[in-house]
Amino acid sequence: MYKFSNILFLIAFLQLSSCSQKALTDKVNNKDSRVDKLLESMTLNEKIGQMNQYNGFYDATGPAPTGGDAKMKYEHLRNGMVGSVLNVTGADAVRKLQETVVNESRLGIPLIFGLDVIHGHKTLAPIPLAEAASWDLEAIEKASRVAAIEASARGINWTFAPMVDISRDARWGRVMEGAGEDAYLGSKVGAARVKGFQGNNLSDINTIAACAKHFAGYGFAESGKDYNTAEISMTTLYNVVLPPFKACVDAGICTFMNSFNTVNGIPSTADKFLQRDVLKGKWGFEGFIVSDWGSGAEMIEHGVAKDKKDVAIIATNAGSDMDMESYANVNFLQAAVEEGSVPMKYIDDSARRILKVKEDLGLLDDPYKYCNGTREKELLYHPDHRAAVLDIAKKSIVLLKNENNALPISKTQKRLAVIGTLAQDKNSPLGNWRMGSDDDTAVSVLEGLDNMGIEYTYAEGTKLSIGENAFIREMKINETDRSQFDEAIELAKKSEQVLMVLGEYGYQSGEGRSRAKLGLPGLQQELLEAVYEVNPNVVLVLMTGRPLVLNWADENVPAILNTWHLGTESGNAIAEVLVGNYNPSGKLPMCFPRSVGQLPIYYNHLNTGRPGPKDLVFWSHYTDEKNSPLYPFGYGLSYTSFDYKDISVSNTYGTDDNVKVSVTLSNTGKLKGKEVAQLYLRDRVASVSRPVRELKGFKLVELNAGESRVVEFILTKDELGFYNNNGDYVIEKGDFDVYVGGSSNANMRKSFDLK
Ligand code: GLC
Repeated sequence: MYKFSNILFLIAFLQLSSCSQKALTDKVNNKDSRVDKLLESMTLNEKIGQMNQYNGFYDATGPAPTGGDAKMKYEHLRNGMVGSVLNVTGADAVRKLQETVVNESRLGIPLIFGLDVIHGHKTLAPIPLAEAASWDLEAIEKASRVAAIEASARGINWTFAPMVDISRDARWGRVMEGAGEDAYLGSKVGAARVKGFQGNNLSDINTIAACAKHFAGYGFAESGKDYNTAEISMTTLYNVVLPPFKACVDAGICTFMNSFNTVNGIPSTADKFLQRDVLKGKWGFEGFIVSDWGSGAEMIEHGVAKDKKDVAIIATNAGSDMDMESYANVNFLQAAVEEGSVPMKYIDDSARRILKVKEDLGLLDDPYKYCNGTREKELLYHPDHRAAVLDIAKKSIVLLKNENNALPISKTQKRLAVIGTLAQDKNSPLGNWRMGSDDDTAVSVLEGLDNMGIEYTYAEGTKLSIGENAFIREMKINETDRSQFDEAIELAKKSEQVLMVLGEYGYQSGEGRSRAKLGLPGLQQELLEAVYEVNPNVVLVLMTGRPLVLNWADENVPAILNTWHLGTESGNAIAEVLVGNYNPSGKLPMCFPRSVGQLPIYYNHLNTGRPGPKDLVFWSHYTDEKNSPLYPFGYGLSYTSFDYKDISVSNTYGTDDNVKVSVTLSNTGKLKGKEVAQLYLRDRVASVSRPVRELKGFKLVELNAGESRVVEFILTKDELGFYNNNGDYVIEKGDFDVYVGGSSNANMRKSFDLK
């Protein structure tokens, strides 16, 4: 503890700290004035301290820091040089660190504790890409609500989510973390997740600050290789990359995270255009921006900063407010300000933004409000949470193929085989991003079948990975050990039906997990073909964090059920769909390619000057592959069938600025089912080339067998326009086509002239 040798100094210290404590604890009508008062009492270094975030003393979610260590970090905590800590969880651990700062630093400004609560904390929802496949915004919001309740019970008051990076390239491992290839769906999902995390009042005990990431363009990493350069045109930046981030701002998000990649050769942490001109300027964002892990220091690798002082100067001048694990702000910003390289107004602005979020969270009133240990016991794995994640898990499952009614399976069949190591796996369904969760807490497929009372015989068939797996380690995939094949093949021979649970291990997608080949990993494809050869009555139950190349399965296997990585209730959700208790309703938020050579592939592409097909070779195509994906965006089957007819358009634009589209949707099958009716729009002639179609509306419609309903969509100016290359939103009159159907291949079309 501190020992004051000089009484005068002590008196001065107590006077200063008492007035600053007053600034901290003053309950004032106007929040801003408390923050402003606090700022007035802060030294330059203490303001810079708010702009510094350290990894805690637990799991690292990035490259282990080279510069800092626990002793130095504790010193900085004690002298008010840390504004936030990440990766510390648990009410007790958080309280201990908070006490250090509140009791020992001069002003006692509490820390904000961040964590990657990406799709749940202890009770895990499906990975975000799977959640997006539900298209159910209420269920998505509810899953984020559950995540916020559990995280806040463990001292966390800030999550680094939602990730709203649009991506068109399944080679990129982080597609699992987003909402897929479409900006409209990505925007709706992002806003729903912000509302789930932040609720209606950030100071509520069970709400946490959300963080839109990674700003911007990270999902366009060239060749799908993580951290790679992103080459993005202005029309794509404005119409695809930025809208989901803007939707998060409109939903009231209070933090952003910038990204590792460059756009136009500028690393996002150094990008003034993105951070100051667009986000804080044009969009009026009042929260703060945290860098990604070490992305500040990585400017040196990018070649835009010569040393860490340069990093601190460039990042701060560009609008990056808080430095995650680069040790740049804390060590070099004071000198930078004193020499005039960084204006004091930027330091004041960053510190104010950060203090404001702490104020809104209620941390300035009560630094320990999130440290009530009894809430952990009451809330973690609460039955209501399990019910919520089970609900969205069922809704996230996408039926890709179902011939000869292979599905649903009979509940009473006596000779059901289940083959595949993922069938028993209680970790993979939890996905890659599960910081702070507990291992082996997913309901496996086998357990789900057991809970459903289904009799089966199991054979592992083949190991998928070799040795221990960990979030930060490369996985070793089994490419040689076929010793379990024979047992699986013998089982298949004597079985009536075979469920093959194959796909990706949980850590095969996520950060740092780009793949250049997208088939079933390891020996699984070989095993699938060997089993199919002796018993073709196979159902492929796919587990994956991304779209895979499934051509062989699509050509041969009667049924394919895409179950992604569905979180804690995975096995129960899969079993409910397998036996028909839940009629699958999921639709792909990202298309499945026929081959890696097609990537990046997406439905809302431009027409090009040479669309096809044409008799001669001179059109935009491959000589050895189709242009279309194997399964398109928005695609998903049901155990029943749906039909669309009688599309009509009423164009009252210019009076009430609306275009109303209606269609009659019918359930033409024998079972009740839910359809995601989708509306796509094409602006046929505009000042820039516009996509051949874009999602501009969707409705979840549940119909009984034989039931029909008129479904209406309203197109407002928010849907009819686009951003031109100056970033201005424009609506240009002229001919439009509207398509309605059950996927991006919808062919029911109606044209109208926007006057
Ligand atoms: C990681 C990720 C980012 C995450 C951060 C903190 O490198 O890029 O999404 O929020 O570091 O864990």
